[in-house]
Amino acid sequence: MLTVLAIDTQTAKGPVSSVDAKPQPTLLTADAAVEAAAAGVLGTGEYKAGVNETLLIHAPAGLAAKRLLIVGLGKLAKVTVHGVREAAGTAVRFAKPRGIRELVIVPPENSSEGLPHAVVARAVAEGALVGDFDADTYRSDRKDQSIQSLTIAAAGAAAADADRAATEAAVQEGVIVGESQNFARSLVNEPGNKLTPTILGQRAAAMAQEVGLGWDVYSTEMLHELKMGAFWSVSQGSAEPPALIVLRYEPEGVSDGPVLGLVGKGITFDTGGISIKPADNMEKMKYDMAGGAAMLGAMRAIALLKPRVRVIAIVCAAENMPSGTAQKPGDVQTAMPLASDKPGKTIEIINTDAEGRLVLADGLTYARKLGATHLIDAATLTGAISVALGKTTAGVFSNDDATYAKFEAALGVSGEKFWRLPLGEEYAELIKSDIGDIKNTGGRYGGASIAAEFLHTFAEDVPWIHLDIAGVAWVDDSRPHIAKGPSGIAVRSILEWVRSY
Ligand code: BES
Ligand code: MN
Ligand code: ZN
Repeated sequence: MLTVLAIDTQTAKGPVSSVDAKPQPTLLTADAAVEAAAAGVLGTGEYKAGVNETLLIHAPAGLAAKRLLIVGLGKLAKVTVHGVREAAGTAVRFAKPRGIRELVIVPPENSSEGLPHAVVARAVAEGALVGDFDADTYRSDRKDQSIQSLTIAAAGAAAADADRAATEAAVQEGVIVGESQNFARSLVNEPGNKLTPTILGQRAAAMAQEVGLGWDVYSTEMLHELKMGAFWSVSQGSAEPPALIVLRYEPEGVSDGPVLGLVGKGITFDTGGISIKPADNMEKMKYDMAGGAAMLGAMRAIALLKPRVRVIAIVCAAENMPSGTAQKPGDVQTAMPLASDKPGKTIEIINTDAEGRLVLADGLTYARKLGATHLIDAATLTGAISVALGKTTAGVFSNDDATYAKFEAALGVSGEKFWRLPLGEEYAELIKSDIGDIKNTGGRYGGASIAAEFLHTFAEDVPWIHLDIAGVAWVDDSRPHIAKGPSGIAVRSILEWVRSY
């Protein structure tokens, strides 16, 4: 199937005259045969080239392909590289259920945005791979409907020799990024019984081995040795031991400069613990390790794309269960100390369901202890973030404007949607404890900022970014370009942020 993108060039406002009553979208190709094959149906005005709107032409005249698919990018003035990424995903998701296994996508050639061919080709590869993922591995009626062959056709200027090498490299990059995002999604999709903390550790180690990262996976003993009282307290109610996953990327010849510390929440199932969650939707809490999975996906891409900066990733994996050994509201836990001669901060547990911040507290401290100069964490941390931002935009918090600026620039490349929310002394005030240094909840209002401020206590003044992805890590309804299920959010942005150092 040949896929061509189209734009809506109708800019006229107000009533249209009868002469141009049927505005015709413009195909983003200079190929005369494709234009001729589509002219008839485009001339009817039925197809408007709205965002991700598809039009299939069977047996297109004069073309070798059996089908010609046109995917809309919307209004010309609003076309972006992210739109192209989604359009590629839409083409793949159009093809999959129809049993179409071979696809040729023609990236836009005459888009007025002046985007470099390489950038567009990378987006096509990324979007196509993301579109190819379905969360149906446990269905016995699963038809293996993955696309088997995808060709990105370079015509016109894109085919020129000088451009070609750059474009091919960019496509390779897009493949790595798309596959790494799908790697994270495949982990997030696993149910709690199939992906315990131990199994997550094994999957991380196997990936590290494959792409050449250094790795260690520790369990209970090491948590005790490091005095990770906060992390351990979450795991103590479960029959499943915790896993402290450490991945190291150490490029040859890079012995100074920043060390980036990536810390992920890896709760393989969150029942809430003794402060147990209601039964409705509890099954979704298998995705409470999406932040950890995002870090593993990003590390996979980092290992393959080889930026010139050192990176350590830490995933704190545990299962949050109620039991006779579980921690209780009112318990006081001692977090990992930054230095062995210093005391760890004491935490009063108000609600055992606010467990993500507990495992991350020790994860952040451990990253600092291992020498991280800059920190980024990702977590499905609060329900409050989706109340604030909804199901399509994730939250970002930072204690350092320069570090945040780099993350914002990374968003321009990744196309992921994040919105910065405040930290502040007012929030820190709400988590002061009478019995200890800090308590793990501070009331309903501003819940995402309170949780972020809790983490801030452990990042202190190390430049740090916190990503709260609870609202967007799971796609509730299929969209044209992406399946319902795990979204793989944050993999691309974390990767680009790392590459900016
Ligand atoms: N894992 C949840 C947050 C969550 C909620 C993720 C919905 C995805 C979808 C987290 O551990 C949690 O339970 N947070 C509590 C915090 C509260 C007890 C302060 C919450 O948001 O209700
Ligand atoms: Mn919880
Ligand atoms: Zn949780």
